[in-house]
Amino acid sequence: MDKNFTYQKCINPDCGAEFDISQVLFKCPMCGDLLDCRYNWDKIKVPKKLSQLQKRWAKRNNTLDFSGVWRFRELLNFCDDKFKVSIGEGQTILQQNDDVAKYVNMKEGNLFVQYEGLNPSGSFKDNGMAAAFSHAKLTNAKSCACASTGNTSASMALYAHSCGLKATVFIGSGKIAFGKLSQAMDYGAKTLQISGNFDDCMKQVQDVCSKLSIYLLNSLNPFRLEGQKTIIYRVIEQLGWQEPDWIIVPGGNLGNSSAFGKAFLELKQLNLIDRIPRLAVINATGANTLTELVNDKKLVWNSGLVNQQIIDKYYSDMTARNFRPSTIATAIEISKPVNLKKCLRAIDVCNGVVLAVTDEEIKDAKAIVGKFGLGCEPASAASVAGLKHLISNGTISPSERVVCILTGHLLKDPNLTVDYHTKRQGQFSNPPIEVPNDLDKIINLIK
Ligand code: F0G
Repeated sequence: MDKNFTYQKCINPDCGAEFDISQVLFKCPMCGDLLDCRYNWDKIKVPKKLSQLQKRWAKRNNTLDFSGVWRFRELLNFCDDKFKVSIGEGQTILQQNDDVAKYVNMKEGNLFVQYEGLNPSGSFKDNGMAAAFSHAKLTNAKSCACASTGNTSASMALYAHSCGLKATVFIGSGKIAFGKLSQAMDYGAKTLQISGNFDDCMKQVQDVCSKLSIYLLNSLNPFRLEGQKTIIYRVIEQLGWQEPDWIIVPGGNLGNSSAFGKAFLELKQLNLIDRIPRLAVINATGANTLTELVNDKKLVWNSGLVNQQIIDKYYSDMTARNFRPSTIATAIEISKPVNLKKCLRAIDVCNGVVLAVTDEEIKDAKAIVGKFGLGCEPASAASVAGLKHLISNGTISPSERVVCILTGHLLKDPNLTVDYHTKRQGQFSNPPIEVPNDLDKIINLIK
């Protein structure tokens, strides 16, 4: 790829250092801030309308056209086609879900769920991995690693195997959902279970990657976020090339929300959308760093000059009181989100809001989503639980068009679902009924 087309740039305007696309960095070597993948759009042939990309749908035998990521390749044009990796990611469904609409007190027909559970590894992470592994191939990486609450490790292990890279995953002790752990092991990754939580793993993996020159696949990697922008393109595609009024997304390490903000900003700059939808990022109450920093400490993007002192003080208070995040939505059990600043940018770009929901709310919302047929994992349902709050407090009106992102498949965390139903943990519990091996008694129960 011509260097003039694309480059990496530090998001801190006081630094703003730029780097070649072929460098493997993940953090600005000058100031330590996050890096963006940037484009010189005037040098790239971008379609005049997004709908021009629609014809690629019909070409299932062309790997890049079939991919829900690379179908939009002009909008993440950082490498030549020969480097692009795909294993069929991005075949997602945007489902109009009137059961969920009723549950959150919205008008029928206005609520959609974007189901990312049909990705090859069962979560939205595959969108990001397709892009980041393409960059790994471009840079001739031989070995990769990530820290994970489960889905990143499953997705990375899957792509690493298909790209011929050695894979090491760092997971915390105890909390990982079994569906995800089984994937990492089955796909052949070396799985290191660190005695600590996700935040501890995240720190270790960064040090290990820089010491051993291993390619890091967490969402610190700007190319991961380029792939995750396509979640938004597919929402717009499935709404007949119209943007919704709101996007609601769970927030953990804040990669998705950051990617969505970048996607909308670029689409607007390129005149491919008329207006930027609003964004709501939903934490669990037991892992609510973003919510506290934004709503209570009033942390804002401030044109990139984020007040680092507020963050440092918040983190040192957390350490002083020995705070450990805790939620049944283990995927988002994170207290030091690495993409915090990029998420603040997304909130700024999208006039966004942030809030936290309880584990009980997440479990009930998950059961409602499941009843309609696209079962999701707990973290995904935080989006629906958050929407219910935003309708009841008047932030979102029942007649607006809203899309909740369902980030992962129901079967990622079967234990939680079974407990919810069999132990009658919520208002939608649907436990099995015990019955003797007797035809009349069975018929009586079904009539
Ligand atoms: N939903 C699911 C199912 C996830 O696995 C994650 C993150 C999120 C939401 C949060 O997304 O980090 O972009 O804000 N899982 C990561 C992992 C952290 O390691 O699998 P985010």
